[in-house]
Amino acid sequence: MCGIVGFVGARQAAPILLDGLSRLEYRGYDSAGVAVVTPQGEIDLRKAKGRLQVLNDMVHGGADLDGCVGIGHTRWATHGVPNSTNSHPHMSEDGRFAVIHNGIIENYAEIKEYLIRQGIHFRSETDTEVVAQLLEFYYNKCHDFFRSVGRVLRRIKGAYALGILCADCPDRMIAARKDTPLLLGFGDGENFIASDVTALLPYTRDVVYMDDGETAILTREGIEVFDPLQQPIEKEHHHIDWDVSAAEKGGYPHFMLKEIFEQPDALSRAISPRIRDGRVVLDDMKLTAEQIRSFDRIYIVACGSSYHVGMVGKYNLEHLTRRNVEVCLASEFRYSDPIVDARSLVIVISQSGETLDTLAALREAKARGAYILAIVNVVGSSVAREADDTLYTFAGPEIAVATTKAYSTQLAVLNLIGLAFGETLGAVDPTEYHEAVTELERLPELARQVLSRCDDIQEYAAANFNHSSVFYIGRNLDYALGLEGSLKMKEISYIHSESYASGELKHGTISLIEDGTLVVALGTCGRLFDKMISNVIEVKARGAEVLALTTESRRDAMARVASTVLTVPDTIDLLLPNLGVIPLQLYAYYVALQRGCDIDKPRNLAKSVTVE
Ligand code: M6R
Repeated sequence: MCGIVGFVGARQAAPILLDGLSRLEYRGYDSAGVAVVTPQGEIDLRKAKGRLQVLNDMVHGGADLDGCVGIGHTRWATHGVPNSTNSHPHMSEDGRFAVIHNGIIENYAEIKEYLIRQGIHFRSETDTEVVAQLLEFYYNKCHDFFRSVGRVLRRIKGAYALGILCADCPDRMIAARKDTPLLLGFGDGENFIASDVTALLPYTRDVVYMDDGETAILTREGIEVFDPLQQPIEKEHHHIDWDVSAAEKGGYPHFMLKEIFEQPDALSRAISPRIRDGRVVLDDMKLTAEQIRSFDRIYIVACGSSYHVGMVGKYNLEHLTRRNVEVCLASEFRYSDPIVDARSLVIVISQSGETLDTLAALREAKARGAYILAIVNVVGSSVAREADDTLYTFAGPEIAVATTKAYSTQLAVLNLIGLAFGETLGAVDPTEYHEAVTELERLPELARQVLSRCDDIQEYAAANFNHSSVFYIGRNLDYALGLEGSLKMKEISYIHSESYASGELKHGTISLIEDGTLVVALGTCGRLFDKMISNVIEVKARGAEVLALTTESRRDAMARVASTVLTVPDTIDLLLPNLGVIPLQLYAYYVALQRGCDIDKPRNLAKSVTVE
């Protein structure tokens, strides 16, 4: 997500902070800021929207900020639009504390309300500002920096990597971590924090990775690390010998692989703030129950992989809400004279929020009076700004052209919408609702289990990367999943691939199956498993090589007919595409790797398609 850098030493901090932030630019950001503690014991804070260069010019490369202890941040907006007020660092009202933060404070709204009742004034729309204000609130009672941090960490819920300055303690900085990466860098008479080792490579290669619940106090002389009970602990040091390009990718050879492996964390960010006490709570959605009941038509409109999310969403939303859902390609929708009016809900899905076809479809639907609910990753993007309502996916910046974590989080958000609507409409069975919520909470862990088996897929790809054509077949949710698997394969490996609803094969496409044709048979959904077995037998009989995907409990049955079987953990059908997509992403990735393709930047493709 965002980038964090902190410095404590004898040199002027700001130029080092700006240099460190420039090394994190590749991650994507929309604003940047730095703060230092001045020799006069005050916090000097500067921030600016836009490129880091804007901030750099504003502070003359850091020369304007006098101080040897400081923090810097590049922000990728999650709560509040990208502007300089919402960018980090955030200060407490009296200017005593400055805070940088990566992650999401899930209970920020409740803390903010409490602090406002105590007479504290907030400046920004962010979740992070509550950390700075809460610090001041506790510090005014105990006048102890470290104890105040401890109290704040016990009060906040969610994910965080924090760097904190206190004007009363000009020789130090405090860092804390939970569920968001943060590392400590050990220099000679100077020490550092960073969200990503890339920021530190010119200064030190001696680092310690903080673990969840740990805090650290950094001074010029050294770094003390504390466990969650604030007891001092010894940590293992690591020597970084990666070069800069490997470090940017966190040690992965490609951004795509890194982003595939980020899916469990991205799913947690998308799901966990939206489930409370066993219920889906979409605080960030403005739609009222009355409005939800008033819609007589639901459309999902998107392009590419986001459209494939819509295809899964159609099955799930129709099942959960018992309302008719139509999925449309944005490029077709706008010219189709759609039957859309004030009783229509149009769900627009876009990672970038800038896809021209999607934006044009949104405008067309809006002009016809529809209510627009957007599912978007990039905060403050055009789709997010123009929609009536936006639910963010919190996937973090996605750099590889082929989308992976954005797809997964869009799917998770669409399922949350389905459950929330289903409950409002009284259309979902309460037992099924509770099971679905429980399974959604387990989804990040299940995704982690799928990723732990990536070696099997790599091995299979090493022997199966030279097919001239691949067919993905499945029924229902598995058909929708196949659309995404097939797109991943063609966009990064340049192998021709098609996705078919299995039942449709016999109406023509089966004539293309011959000896050695690779068929990826998706049979994860229990309800239609037996039908899928028949389809596998059908293509095998024509000579196909079948790579099948099913759940662990059905492995043996599938192994009796398919050439090779991959599995995902069992869960409810609704969520299986979220797990099933991971092996398909990995298979496409390893095939492309074998073929020597430019995986992160495939030919002819752009990350954001802003032309028609
Ligand atoms: O940013 P969007 O979600 O609107 O982008 C839509 C498509 O261009 C995108 O999903 C594209 O298909 C990806 N390259 C697929 O990996």
